[in-house]
Amino acid sequence: MSIYLDHNATSPMHPEVIDAMLPFLQNPVGNPSSLHSYGRMARSAVESARAEVAQLLGCDDSSIIFTSGGTEANNMLLKGYVDRSSQAPVISSEIEHPSVLEPLKQLQSDGVEVIRLKPNAAGQIDLEAARPIIAAADPQLLSVIYANNETGVIQPLPALAAMVDRDSCLVHSDATQAVGKLPLDLSQLDLDAISFSAHKLRGPQGVGALVINRKPRQRLISGGEQEHKLRGGTENVAGIVGLGKAAALARMEMEFKQQHLSRLRDAFESRLANIPGSVVFGQQAPRLPNTTYFAIPYYHGETLLMELDRAGFALASGSACHSAVTEPSHVLKAMGVEDNLALNAIRLSIGMDNSLQDIEQLATKLQALVDNLPAVIRQAAV
Ligand SMILES: Cc1ncc(COP(=O)(O)O)c(C=O)c1O
Repeated sequence: MSIYLDHNATSPMHPEVIDAMLPFLQNPVGNPSSLHSYGRMARSAVESARAEVAQLLGCDDSSIIFTSGGTEANNMLLKGYVDRSSQAPVISSEIEHPSVLEPLKQLQSDGVEVIRLKPNAAGQIDLEAARPIIAAADPQLLSVIYANNETGVIQPLPALAAMVDRDSCLVHSDATQAVGKLPLDLSQLDLDAISFSAHKLRGPQGVGALVINRKPRQRLISGGEQEHKLRGGTENVAGIVGLGKAAALARMEMEFKQQHLSRLRDAFESRLANIPGSVVFGQQAPRLPNTTYFAIPYYHGETLLMELDRAGFALASGSACHSAVTEPSHVLKAMGVEDNLALNAIRLSIGMDNSLQDIEQLATKLQALVDNLPAVIRQAAV
């Protein structure tokens, strides 16, 4: 099997998460809305998980709406909260995940004005450029990603939140890549809402949450009265239990995790620096401890990705493939990176089950692949 180095895409479940979920997969599990003992047991498991998530995030249990993941949480917020009849715009950014970009396009086609803030060359929203834009806009919603999934760059949310009128503007952040990797205490951060997904913090796929301190105007999924009447449908009990356990583990492991991940990331980046011309995107900005988004100017990203895969290393490419045409990442484009370089982008995202040895082996293989290129190619690009 390959060494798995794509944890920003999804992270394997923690063994204790699997153990916590198993009884809810193997035994009869009641519907949490049922009144009999099976139902009450399921309800109690869901509410215990909610309390664990609330403790990780420093928020109230009642502000958590369990969803099927980050995508649904982002859609719920954008489609359920934004008032389409208002003239007030929505402010977001050019470096959002598609689960924010696509609902924003739908809001625009419904007549809502959407303003997208730009990042600087280091991948962080440019605060000086943002200030007059936000002041002139008087927005109803500010929604900016907490840490970008490609670059790992952490966005200046507190500074952005301080620029809006908090009585009329809700501040939301897609924190899918940040929860579990960064200590994120909502009681200190002064955000109104965040979205996240369990499988990025060693929980199961297909479950996540919108955490919000105001009631969305309308429901995204109509049906039963589950999740404070905001998200109809029988709860994913086993998944929610897994999320609760992942949240508890993330809280306990946070400090060690940050040290372990950044030690491995830094070890990789110091080896990468020996490769002439190599670039790490966003290296000058504060970043997630586990992410290196890099390019070697004379090595096409997808070719390198496939070479690494053949050699037993699973990483991600930074470009998107639409109808067989490879397009450079919209995040790198927004940062002003030339298409030619952006098409070479590769993302390394490290997890807790990776070792220094994994990273050393990857760096050695990368160096060997580069060394095997004809000298004329290497020299021409440097
Ligand atoms: C920043 C960000 N937001 C949202 C999502 C969507 O999460 P999910 O696929 O779990 O719905 C992802 C997943 O990659 C992400 O990285």
